[in-house]
Amino acid sequence: MTVEPATPASEKVYPVPERLLAGGNVPKPWVSSFDEYKAKWEESVQNPTKFFGNLARELLSWSKPFETVTNGSFEQGDIAWFLEGELNVAFNCVDRHALANPDKIAIIHEGDEPENVRKITYRELLQQVSRVANVLKSLDVRKGDNVAIYMPMVPEAVFAMLACARIGAVHSVVFAGFSSDSLRDRINDAGARVVLTADEGRRGGKNIATKRIVDKALETAPTVEHVLVLRRTGSDVPFTAGRDLWWHDEMAKARPYCPPTSMNAEDPLFLLYTSGSTGTPKGVVHTTGGYLLGAAATVKYVFDYHEGDIHACMADVGWITGHTYIVYGPLALGATTVLFESTPTYPDPARFWNLVEKHKVTQFYTAPTAIRALRRLGDKWVQQADLSSLRVIGSVGEPINPEAWEWYNEQVGKGQCAVVDTYWQTETGSIIVTPLPGATATKPGSATFPFFGIQPVILDPVTGQELEGNDVTGVLAIKQPWPSMARSVYNNHYRYLDTYLKPYKGHYFTGDGATRDKDGYIWIRGRVDDVINVSGHRLSTAEIESALILHHSVVEAAVVGGNDELTGQCIHAYVTLKPNIDDAKDLDKELVLQVRKVIGPFAAPKKIYIVNDLPKTRSGKIMRRILRKIVNGEQDSLGDISTLADSSVVDHLIKCVHKV
Ligand code: WTA
Repeated sequence: MTVEPATPASEKVYPVPERLLAGGNVPKPWVSSFDEYKAKWEESVQNPTKFFGNLARELLSWSKPFETVTNGSFEQGDIAWFLEGELNVAFNCVDRHALANPDKIAIIHEGDEPENVRKITYRELLQQVSRVANVLKSLDVRKGDNVAIYMPMVPEAVFAMLACARIGAVHSVVFAGFSSDSLRDRINDAGARVVLTADEGRRGGKNIATKRIVDKALETAPTVEHVLVLRRTGSDVPFTAGRDLWWHDEMAKARPYCPPTSMNAEDPLFLLYTSGSTGTPKGVVHTTGGYLLGAAATVKYVFDYHEGDIHACMADVGWITGHTYIVYGPLALGATTVLFESTPTYPDPARFWNLVEKHKVTQFYTAPTAIRALRRLGDKWVQQADLSSLRVIGSVGEPINPEAWEWYNEQVGKGQCAVVDTYWQTETGSIIVTPLPGATATKPGSATFPFFGIQPVILDPVTGQELEGNDVTGVLAIKQPWPSMARSVYNNHYRYLDTYLKPYKGHYFTGDGATRDKDGYIWIRGRVDDVINVSGHRLSTAEIESALILHHSVVEAAVVGGNDELTGQCIHAYVTLKPNIDDAKDLDKELVLQVRKVIGPFAAPKKIYIVNDLPKTRSGKIMRRILRKIVNGEQDSLGDISTLADSSVVDHLIKCVHKV
C-alpha cells in the first residue's frame, strides 16, 4: 500500500465570504468563527457524552429517553449510541413537522421534464408514508424484515423508505442503474421478501426498463413473495399475477394513517450495499438513532440550514448521499428538500442553474464530476440564471481538483457562497471532514477540518504508527467512534471487523490516503485499496474482474484505475485469452457489454487491452502498481520490477497500451 507524497495542489486560501457574516439578508451561520468551531470540536471529542447527548435531545424527538450516550469500542466492534433510547425515524422526519407545520412543502420533485414539478406538503407526506406503511403491513412485512427498493427518482421512492422506517422494516435501496444480476445478488444477500419498483424510469428523455430488470433478477431470487409496482410512465410491462401488485390499487385500499413503531436507537434502519476490496458488495448496516443524528447535525452545521431554506442535493437516493442529504437529514430538520429526476445536461446544460433559480435553492450539493463536465461546456449556461438565492454550495464523492473548485466558487457561488468540499463514505453515514460555512477559510481541493465528534489521524500505512504534527502523509483513520458510523456488515460482522477495525488496531480505517498540510488542513488523496472511483461511483476492481472472467474467452483479468479529466478515474482492464481464440475482433465490445450486464452501465471499462500475460510476482500475485503506472503514462517510473517472475512482460504491456 503506497500513498504518493504530499503535493497540495493549491496554496490559495479563501476566507469566509463576507456576505455570510455581514448580517444582511442572510441568516447568521450557526458557527461564525474558527475559534467557535475549534471550541465546539474540542468539546465534542473530549466530552462526547455531553456534546452528543445535548445534540440528540435538541435535534431529535425520542419516544423514550436514552440514559447512556455511548458505549463500546473499536477494539470490540460493539459500538452503540443512545442505548436505552427509543424513537421512530419517520416520526422525526414527517409527523412532528406535519403536526406543527402541515402546509409546509417537504419535497419539491423536479421531474425529468423541467415543467413537471410536484410539491408535497408535510401533511401529504404523512398520509403517503402511512399508506405505503399500511400496504407493507398488508403484505406481512414486519419489524426487522428487509425490503428492497429499486425505483426511479420519484417521491414514491422517498415514501417507500420512510414507510419502512415507520414500521421498523429495514430498507435496502438498490441504485436503479444497477443491472439485474447486481439487483438479484443484493436481494438474495438481504433475503428480501418484498420489492418496491416502477414500471419504467425516465431520465434525460429516455425510458428505462425498470420492471423488466426486476423480473429478470427475480428469476433467481427465491425469497421474494411480492413486487409492488408504481405506474411511472404507463408503458405496458410484464405482470406476474399473484406476485405483482399495482402500487395505486394497494394504496387505494390502505388507511392514510399508520402509527409509528417505536424503535430502539440501535435497531437497524437500512442496509446499503457498497463495493470494497474483495469481490462481493457489502451490506453496510446503519442504525436508527446515531445515523439520524449524524444526518440532521450535518445538515444543520455543514449546510448551515435555517428555517425556510430550500435544500437541493443532486445525488440519487440509491447512494448514501441521497439517503442522508435528500431524505433523512433535511426531513429530520423539517426542511424543504429537492428531489431531481433528470441529468445535469437535460434538456441543456443550464438545467441545474435553472432549477436553482426556479426553486430559490439555498443549499446546492453535487459531485466534482458534474462540476467538471459543466465547466467544460462553457460559462454561458450558468450565467443566464439568477443564482442569488444560494448560500452554501457543496461537493462530494471524490477529490475536487482546484480548477473545478475555483469555477464552482466563481461561476456558481459568485464568490458569495461558502464552498464545502465534504468528505465522507457510505460507512460513515454522514459528513466527517468538511469546512463549516461561517467558520472555515477554505483551500481549493482540501476538505479542511473534522466535523464534530470526529478525530482523524494520519497513520503510517506500514507500521500503523500515528504521524503526529503537520506536513504528514499516510492513510486516514478515525480514533474514536461517532454516532452515525456503520455498525456492521449485514450477516457478516466478521467482515466489518476485518475491513474497518482490524487493519489499524483501535481505529476505524477509511481506505483513503490523506495529507495533513503545514496548516493542519486535510487533503484526501484517494483510495489506497482496490477501489476505483468513477464519477463518484465506488467500484471494486475485483468485482469488475469477476464480471470479465465470466466471458468464455477470458482466462484472467486485471483492472486498474486510470486518471480521467472528466470522471476522476476510469476503468482500464487487461485480459488474457484462452488459447486458440482467433477472432478477437469485437471482443473488447463484448467484454464491455459483459460488465454492463453483470454490474451496470456505469461500471463499463473505458479501455480493454488484450495481452499475452500479466505481470506477476513469483508467488503469482498480480502487480497492479505496474499496470496502473502504464495506463497513466508513467512507464518510465515503474519502480522495482525485479520481483516479477518474468520481467519481459512489461515491454509487451507497454506496447499493447501505448501502441509503440
Ligand atoms: C471518496 C460517498 C475526496 C473517498 C459519500 C471515499 C472523497 C469514497 C470525498 C466514499 C471528498 C468522498 N474528497 N474523496 N470530498 N468524498 N470521497 O461510499 O475515496 O460512495 O472513501 O460515499 O469516496 O464513497 P461512497
